[in-house]
Amino acid sequence: MIQNTAVQLTQDELNSFITILTERTGIIPRASHRDGIKSYIEKKIAEMKLSVQGYKEQLLLNKELFAGLVNGSTVNETYFFREEKQFALLHDKIFPQWRLKSPDTEIRMWSAACSYGEEAYSLALLAKTCGIKPYVTASDINSEVLEHCRRGLFLGTSLRPVDGTAFQDLIVPFKRSDGKVEFSKEIKSCINTMQLNLSEIDSPQCAALLPRNQNIIFLRNVFIYFSQELRARILHTLADKCLAEDGLLFVSMSEIAQTDSTIIPPSLEKNVDGSVFYFHKKTGGKADG
Ligand SMILES: C[S@@+](CC[C@H](N)C(=O)[O-])C[C@H]1O[C@@H](n2cnc3c(N)ncnc32)[C@H](O)[C@@H]1O
Repeated sequence: MIQNTAVQLTQDELNSFITILTERTGIIPRASHRDGIKSYIEKKIAEMKLSVQGYKEQLLLNKELFAGLVNGSTVNETYFFREEKQFALLHDKIFPQWRLKSPDTEIRMWSAACSYGEEAYSLALLAKTCGIKPYVTASDINSEVLEHCRRGLFLGTSLRPVDGTAFQDLIVPFKRSDGKVEFSKEIKSCINTMQLNLSEIDSPQCAALLPRNQNIIFLRNVFIYFSQELRARILHTLADKCLAEDGLLFVSMSEIAQTDSTIIPPSLEKNVDGSVFYFHKKTGGKADG
């Protein structure tokens, strides 16, 4: 045991913690996030009155402690109707087509790294506006953001003045006088939260949890933290096991450019509508397992 004095991790010590984080979550932190992770660990070690080695040993054994490190390491930036062109495509074309083809069927959508949940609520609100019943799965590795998503209460800063504005009218009925956004029970009941580590998506223990037969998957602004190898594993699992026939996968517009085309599964074809790219699971592609 050491005294509760300020702890200063060396670069090697920090690297060894980041290696553990990457091995277990796939997250490769950007240089700008390393300082935050360092501060989190130093504070935790001081709080627990442990040595660096003692904390590392506990981290490997104690799931709750590791979850704390994950919660303290993820980047959770998000807001309503982020990248609104993708939502405009859903609103103008995809949802009306769905309504025509399957008027009484609920649409299954998955926000696969949902953060606080703005993306999941945006999908649910938009589908309802188009006369479609939504069933949205919102998953993330971070247990704290999922709790926030379940509560359905958001700060006014989740509405941004530069993006998402085309659909902000849909939020107005839920705005409180203090500027916060609080969704009704009815809207919250469309969202089902689930903790899921995308780096384990193809593991046997995840198989039972995986959302299947999804009509739309949003997997946005998370590939930036993963290796090409992990991106490939995730895309193959989504294509083979999670997307319904004719299902659509949206990644962030900036990520699509950074994704090596050789890792795209053959059952997914890249479609473009104006400036919006997305993947479509071809009919006759591998059936849901
Ligand atoms: C920048 S947010 C993206 C939120 C939303 N999709 C958007 O585009 O606005 C990235 C999210 O990915 C989650 N994440 C990081 N690694 C993950 C993993 N291995 N499995 C599941 N979620 C992960 C983080 O917790 C964080 O909430």
